[in-house]
Amino acid sequence: MSNNSKRAAIILAAGKSTRMKSSKSKVLHEVGGLAMLAWVTNLARSAGVEKIIAVVGEGNADVRAAAENLGLEIAIQEPQLGTGHAVLSAKAHLEDFEGDVAVLYADTPLIKTQTLADVFAVLAKSADVAVMGFETQFPASYGRLIEQDGELVKIVEAKDANPAELAVKLCNSGVMAAKAHDMFAALGHVRNDNANAEYYLTDIIEIMRNSGKSAVVVHANEEEVLGVNARSDLALAEQAFQAHMRTQMMDAGVTLRSPDTTFFSWDTEIEAEAEIGANVVFGPGSYVSRGAVVHPFCHIEGATVGKDAQIGPFARLRPGAHMGENSKAGNFVEVKKSVIGKGSKISHLSYIGDAVLGEGVNVGAGTITCNYDGYSKHLTTIGDGAFIGTNSSLVAPISIGSGAYLGSGGVITNDVPKDALALGRAKQSNKEGWAKRYRTAQEKRKQKRKQKRDK
Ligand code: UD1
Ligand code: CA
Repeated sequence: MSNNSKRAAIILAAGKSTRMKSSKSKVLHEVGGLAMLAWVTNLARSAGVEKIIAVVGEGNADVRAAAENLGLEIAIQEPQLGTGHAVLSAKAHLEDFEGDVAVLYADTPLIKTQTLADVFAVLAKSADVAVMGFETQFPASYGRLIEQDGELVKIVEAKDANPAELAVKLCNSGVMAAKAHDMFAALGHVRNDNANAEYYLTDIIEIMRNSGKSAVVVHANEEEVLGVNARSDLALAEQAFQAHMRTQMMDAGVTLRSPDTTFFSWDTEIEAEAEIGANVVFGPGSYVSRGAVVHPFCHIEGATVGKDAQIGPFARLRPGAHMGENSKAGNFVEVKKSVIGKGSKISHLSYIGDAVLGEGVNVGAGTITCNYDGYSKHLTTIGDGAFIGTNSSLVAPISIGSGAYLGSGGVITNDVPKDALALGRAKQSNKEGWAKRYRTAQEKRKQKRKQKRDK
């Protein structure tokens, strides 16, 4: 790349997405927990693009809102008369732009940063327009890339191709880049005299070559350029993403006990020498530190797991759960928006929400923070070294002092001072011999009933 050349991108997102059969626009469907439009935006930014224009249809209000949220400029294309027409609708945004522009599709989420960087890079070195192409055994309806002597001479849409062109297995991913000026100049000459009566972006290759410009193909993997048209494609994209993440994680030193059953989000971060058991799902915003073990069947989202912590099996960490170093959330434990201090243990069957636990706290089985009164959430704080007896209900807002001891089964409604014992349960009373008398009486009654029946 020439260091001083500016980069822009036009993301095409004006499609109708009828095949998704979805009330939500196609490009807002998620792969690895991130909308496809956001994937493509991240791709552009990671390849050094500063200015991004999303081309949306009049009917795609949801896409427009999402694009604005992502900080993109918006160009409206109405009606949709083809990919060339779509790019032209962004022209006003690039009138004064001196630099390279790439065209990306919002429904093609998995392109690697390096591949897009390569597309920009060849513009600085060896060509006036670069097209991202890929080899496939099933070229189907893709545009065919026709090369001669290592140069791209034209792109032919399948519907307009002759048998020799149809036999070509090098296909157009849809991504291409050129100087913005060159691209718009060429687009001005594109006509719609083709099988679809559309203005094809792909026609600019021949147009540019006819004015003495050169074109080349930059190769991508077939997997990267997978376009999503239907939910089955979305599933394929998800699969490809997960496969990629699993390999990346293991290469980075993370142990995956059963990689095919571990599911990541786009931003999942796990340090080397952490271990992830079978059937673990990571929602967005998760971080796992070195030495931590996530046992099988856990769901972790928006949570951090500290060094050497133990999670699960069957634990759920919800957004805002911060498990400290060497802490534990065992089976059937749910933690939400809570900080669990170093070495604190919640080993069985608990709900801890809106809580701050100090270090070395022991939370007994069945402990529940009663954090919600139907209107607001309330905070529970537990000091260092406190011992929370099994089956405690902590009615928040409440504060348990450090070193305090809570007897089992308490409904704790008042703050407990440091080092105190709190009992919040009904007093037990024993009635001597009661059970024996009860059984004898019942047995007698049973005998009588039997005698009556047998008569
Ligand atoms: C296009 C390419 C084809 C390539 C294929 C890769 C053209 C003429 N053909 O074909 O060479 O192999 O992609 O998938 O470019 N869009 C708009 N406005 C429009 C038309 C399309 O925003 O007026 C958007 C669509 O939402 C979609 C993308 O552009 O994201 C591609 O459009 P589509 O009609 O699917 O193009 P293909 O026929 O698949
Ligand atoms: Ca398509």
